[in-house]
Amino acid sequence: MRIRRRKHLEERLEKIKDYIIIADKKQVNVLEALKDKKYIDFAKEFGNNNPICLEIGCGKGKFIIEKAKQNPNVNYIAVEMLENIILIACETAKEEGLKNVKFINSGAEYLRRYIKENSINEIYLNFSPPYHKNGYESRRLSNERFAKSYFEMLINGGKLIQKTDDKIFFDYSFEKFLECGFKVVDVSNELYLPNSTNIITEYESKWLSLNMPIYSLHAIKQLK
Ligand SMILES: C[S@@+](CC[C@H](N)C(=O)[O-])C[C@H]1O[C@@H](n2cnc3c(N)ncnc32)[C@H](O)[C@@H]1O
Repeated sequence: MRIRRRKHLEERLEKIKDYIIIADKKQVNVLEALKDKKYIDFAKEFGNNNPICLEIGCGKGKFIIEKAKQNPNVNYIAVEMLENIILIACETAKEEGLKNVKFINSGAEYLRRYIKENSINEIYLNFSPPYHKNGYESRRLSNERFAKSYFEMLINGGKLIQKTDDKIFFDYSFEKFLECGFKVVDVSNELYLPNSTNIITEYESKWLSLNMPIYSLHAIKQLK
């Protein structure tokens, strides 16, 4: 999909620069980049030692912004590869005056360059593209390479939470998380019960309005 460059992009990016921790536009070779570690110092970024949670592919940030508002004692990092989309998320975070959410403008495949092992409490994968086309498995955000990197970044006992409308992608992800050592504990379609704490994302509202089923799972990193 072609995304129109937003008006005055550079000017607007300048105004929200405090919300972007990493905007590494020059990256080309993932393997080379991963050898050259540039770990983020979260305590320095947020000015405290609160737990860190991470969303991969945050889009316009509706989910992570609501999470940050509901949990002021947790720090949130959201990753999004598209600059003109992450811009909207940062502008909303700024308008809301949030101090506990920051953004990484990069492909998720580069995350292990910036994030140390055993440092993240929760990871959210909301409506990631399923990439069903032949030859596109390497892009799928729950393939073996990504699932391994999530396992490494999570603390022991940390949790990955996935939501998707795509059953084939959901079953694929389930298998990959098991293969990479996760314990998948909560497979559910009960996101919309009264009193549920579920936060509805942009894509989720779209699928809900079409009465499409949503699949979710919780995968735990549990070392013996
Ligand atoms: C279908 S949208 C879902 C957005 C949002 N999570 C929601 O539920 O409304 C998927 C998002 O993932 C982002 N994405 C896909 N692959 C990515 C990658 N490798 N690294 C970072 N972001 C990625 C896309 O740019 C897009 O914004």
